[in-house]
Amino acid sequence: MTSATHPRVRVLPDAVADQIAAGEVVERPASAVKELVENAIDAGATQVRVVIEHGGKTLIEVSDDGWGMDRENAILALERHATSKIATAGDLVGVATFGFRGEALPAIASVSRLTLLTAEADHEATEIEVNGGRMDRVADGARRRGTTVTARALFFNTPARRKFLRSVGSETRAVGEAVATLALAHPEVGFEVLADGQTRLAVPPGQSRVERVAAVWGRDLAGTLLPVRFAAGAFAIEGFIQRPGDARPTGRRIQFFVNSRPFRDAFLVRAAEAGYRSALAPGDRPSLLLDIRVPAVEVDVNVHPAKLEVRFRDRIGLERTIEDAVRHGLGDLAAAPPLGEWRPLPADRLGPAGLSSVPLDDLFGEPASDGAPCSMEGAPAPEPFAAHLWQLFDTYIAFETTAGLIMVDQHSAHERVLYEAVLDQLRGRSAPSQRLLLPITLELNDEELDAVELHREALERIGFEVAPFGGRSVVLHAVPVPHPRFDATRCFREVVADLAGGRFAAWSNRLERFAATFACRAAVMAGTELEETEMRELLRRLFRTALPPHDVHGRATIVQLPREELERRFGRR
Ligand SMILES: Nc1ncnc2c1ncn2[C@@H]1O[C@H](COP(=O)(O)OP(=O)(O)OP(=O)(O)O)[C@@H](O)[C@H]1O
Ligand SMILES: [Mg+2]
Repeated sequence: MTSATHPRVRVLPDAVADQIAAGEVVERPASAVKELVENAIDAGATQVRVVIEHGGKTLIEVSDDGWGMDRENAILALERHATSKIATAGDLVGVATFGFRGEALPAIASVSRLTLLTAEADHEATEIEVNGGRMDRVADGARRRGTTVTARALFFNTPARRKFLRSVGSETRAVGEAVATLALAHPEVGFEVLADGQTRLAVPPGQSRVERVAAVWGRDLAGTLLPVRFAAGAFAIEGFIQRPGDARPTGRRIQFFVNSRPFRDAFLVRAAEAGYRSALAPGDRPSLLLDIRVPAVEVDVNVHPAKLEVRFRDRIGLERTIEDAVRHGLGDLAAAPPLGEWRPLPADRLGPAGLSSVPLDDLFGEPASDGAPCSMEGAPAPEPFAAHLWQLFDTYIAFETTAGLIMVDQHSAHERVLYEAVLDQLRGRSAPSQRLLLPITLELNDEELDAVELHREALERIGFEVAPFGGRSVVLHAVPVPHPRFDATRCFREVVADLAGGRFAAWSNRLERFAATFACRAAVMAGTELEETEMRELLRRLFRTALPPHDVHGRATIVQLPREELERRFGRR
């Protein structure tokens, strides 16, 4: 080895060291914005304004009304490892501020043309200019209490990094996301984001978490969320989970916080999803916002260069707690078997005496003969069925008995089950319903408004708590939960439209008419893939109802292909 080519260990000049550090902290405009907004929040701001141009590539400006800095501190703040937030390594445990490394400002200053304009209350303002890490000017400035950091020409001196920037649209979106995340973490602070002159986000200070979620994620999504509040061991979980029936395969929103600090963690998302169990249709991904409250010693926030991840001491315990919190938040939904818990029929409804109290025959008339090979009318209920269950065409449940092959229409079976349960509720006990975090507002036409007025009590008995909302609007404060995939808004609309349209008008008994309408609209649809446990549960309940073979419209619920018929067709007989 010749000494001529032998590399020597050298201490890097500060400017180079800063740029390397900047590479980790400031990856794109959104990460610079995130750091500057975090500093503003750490400085006690009540209002933070973010202005960007060209996705932040040419201009990033973050202004706050926080406590600002005097000149000495402003100069110091631009030096590496200068922080007011911790003094010793011990302070890192339980650090409540976003910042603690004293790295962000000098990092951004080393890769941009930066101006820091800051003032403490009732003090002169200071303006400092830094170009690519070199402090060029310190002067008096003019502004009220607070701080404005302007970073122009980001990455002008690091062309490699600049080349990796995405389109203006994509960088703008990333900036919006970064601020939205912090806005969700701090509903008490107001935020405004202006991109190329257009307002991307504007939320006022002093909001509650619910208001903030509605403002940032939109009222539509917020209206599908349920509140969660759950504590176990060292952890307390607070936040919102999406009703399983509203979850979709795409477009979900996920936000996790630990003690109000945003972080990401795919395993915790999975733990939350596990809490839904089979309530989620395959492929559906629920939106989640969960804040984990935990003693400071339980979490290390200093494990990721951009602080996007954290480390928990008791991971397994946390995963279990999150799963339990979700299950708890879903309440009856998740505790119940997948198709919703309906009380077994009261004994008096099972016997002929009970049956006679419901004029079912009047209601359904003669069962329609619809060309089915053989209706199972009068056959003994084929329970118990230990056999395999199949789902055909996502619509029929099929299974084998000693007598032959049996097929059940899942929609009409569920309809039958719901019909009897709802009748029960209409006659006294009200349905288990779920209070909505954000009431759903619906516009109705005149006939529908009349129908709601007329049937309000019945609607309430089955779990729809509805109130007028001025004009043609009504608000739903609570909805029934017949099964986890239930789309409450849609069902309500359809039931009300049916009532308004005078369907079932020929039926004399209003309660039954109502129960049938609801059962039809609430039952699981044909074309819905069911899990085996759901099919089994549905069948178990079906064979407990008073009159299983026909649904409320008189269509066949069960069709049987007798073994003899099979044998005849195959020429075995
Ligand atoms: N908007 C602001 N208002 C008041 N003081 C600020 C502001 N921004 C920065 N400072 C001060 O400058 C210091 C340095 O900020 P910088 O972001 O570089 O480090 P930090 O926030 O302490 O740690 P980190 O690198 O983890 O963000 C802060 O500790 C704070 O005292
Ligand atoms: Mg900081």
